[in-house]
Amino acid sequence: MNTRNDLFEDTLEFEDRLELRHPRATDGFHLNQLVTASPPLDTNSVYCNLLQCQHFADTSVAALIDKRLIGFISGYLLPNDAETLFIWQVVVDAKFRGHGLAKRMLNWLVAQPGTESARQLITSITPDNRASWSLFESLARDWHAQPIKEMLFERERHFAGQHDDEYLLRIAPLPDRPQDSIAHFYSDLRSRLRLPPGKRWLE
Ligand SMILES: CC(C)(COP(=O)(O)OP(=O)(O)OC[C@H]1O[C@@H](n2cnc3c(N)ncnc32)[C@H](O)[C@@H]1OP(=O)(O)O)[C@@H](O)C(=O)NCCC(=O)NCCS
Repeated sequence: MNTRNDLFEDTLEFEDRLELRHPRATDGFHLNQLVTASPPLDTNSVYCNLLQCQHFADTSVAALIDKRLIGFISGYLLPNDAETLFIWQVVVDAKFRGHGLAKRMLNWLVAQPGTESARQLITSITPDNRASWSLFESLARDWHAQPIKEMLFERERHFAGQHDDEYLLRIAPLPDRPQDSIAHFYSDLRSRLRLPPGKRWLE
């Protein structure tokens, strides 16, 4: 893995040159290339990436160095539930991984006005995407939040055997939100999933 110092003279140079902002439609094509170069992510059409950049700009983030796209998070508020932020894809250019950029983008995103209404984050992860599990577990720890995992889409039932299972991971509460605003939701969820007291994961 590259170290940041392989790429930049020092940390300050990285900090100075890194820009986080909401995406624009003109990022869509570059996003498509970044995702294509980042297995195991599912690729989407350029058109889909353009829509992500335009329609979901307020709930997504682009990371740039010298105006070049090096990281991206696509997300949206559920159409029927503005308290839930769905994180669709997280991607960091391979040269810039391992330096906290994905975490930094997520922390930036949940602090923006466009995600203010969100009380919980949900995302979906395949069983063997270690980097993705580590990223969200680490965020949950930082946020003193509770991650809960359940099955979302099954290999045979939903993907006709063509794709791994996708687990749904919920993390709440998000930082700087009222701590009690999500309690009712979690107590309902725990009883629906029959999670024993103290158990955070549904295996
Ligand atoms: C997943 C991905 C976005 C992580 O980006 P990143 O900038 O390297 O992540 P960070 O540096 O912010 O790391 C966040 C945490 O995850 C851990 N982590 C990151 N990559 C890891 C890996 N390959 N294996 C184990 N842990 C990993 C880090 O140690 C860190 O934990 P810590 O804060 O407790 O030390 C990046 O690896 C990627 O783009 N992968 C390909 C696309 C993908 O699989 N996306 C996720 C699915 S949506």
